Amino acid sequence: FAEVLPEAQCVTWEESQGQQVDYAVVWRPPLEMLRGRTDLKAVFNLGAGVDGILRLRDNDPEALPAGVPIVRLDDAGMAAQMSEYVAAAVLRYFRKLDAYDAQEQAGTWKFLKPHRRADFTIGVMGIGTLGSHIARTLASFGFPVRGWSRSAKVVDGVQSFHGEDGQQAFLSGLKVLVNVLPLTPDTEDIIDTHLLYKLAKGAYVINVARGQHLVEADLLAAVQDGQIAGATLDVFRTEPLPAEHPYWQEPRITITPHISALTLREDSIAQIAGKIRLLAEGKPIAGVVDLQRGY
Ligand code: NAP
Ligand code: GLV
Repeated sequence: FAEVLPEAQCVTWEESQGQQVDYAVVWRPPLEMLRGRTDLKAVFNLGAGVDGILRLRDNDPEALPAGVPIVRLDDAGMAAQMSEYVAAAVLRYFRKLDAYDAQEQAGTWKFLKPHRRADFTIGVMGIGTLGSHIARTLASFGFPVRGWSRSAKVVDGVQSFHGEDGQQAFLSGLKVLVNVLPLTPDTEDIIDTHLLYKLAKGAYVINVARGQHLVEADLLAAVQDGQIAGATLDVFRTEPLPAEHPYWQEPRITITPHISALTLREDSIAQIAGKIRLLAEGKPIAGVVDLQRGY
């Protein structure tokens, strides 16, 4: 920040005690960090998801300084990373690469009947900044793609559904479910037994949003029952995933350590610095979180 905003004075949170500060840049801040800091003009979150900030209100309704906008990262290089990650997982399932790996281990040369693209309908839950990029990327491979959001959306090549009323039709018969929703009281625990059994038999689940979206025991039971053929999970209720967690022992569940879309240093600093300049000029900025909605 000191390089990109040479006119600014940059201090750590510890150094800022007792000083007036205009902007804070945070990731999962402790309760004491923002409480009472009404000197701030904005709080910039070093990620897309702001649940790590908004959750502070659960224990203390005064945790966030009143009237200070909270600003999330808007793509900043994350959408392309997320699309790569999800496309890699989908293509691995679609092209049966795990089965061919197993055949290679056994020294077997054998044709496996391919999946039909038309039977491989993919549903993306959350078609905002990241989800719309993922949906368009998957549609470019020719898969039938559906999207689900809170409000009605138009995304090229994607069949859109919205709201609770649209959820049943969105989920019905999906071969792959991709979750990229923000974590809010409305979306917590959304992937449970009830939802998993609305998907096609032998469906796949890809969760790149938050661990709290998924009822972990329900997914494990659905995998063991054959309803879910496999899952690729980047996020977990407890991170790092505890050593004794049963997912480590389930080969049909693929685990990655919250890396599907990393905060890129240069892109993120450039985006935040650009917004600080706009605010200093009294201009509006994108990415201000709606505190009522929770994202
Ligand atoms: P975003 O632009 O705010 O998009 C959120 C989408 O979810 C919107 O389409 C929104 O609908 C929809 N939505 C929210 N609540 C809903 C509900 N109750 N029912 C139906 N749809 C709902 O967020 P984003 O930038 O795409 O990021 C999404 C999430 O990805 C983040 O919150 C974060 O948790 C996660 N993430 C994970 C990683 C990682 O490395 N694993 C990295 C970055 C982000 P509307 O369009 O109608 O508002
Ligand atoms: C990462 O998880 C983010 O929300 O940016």
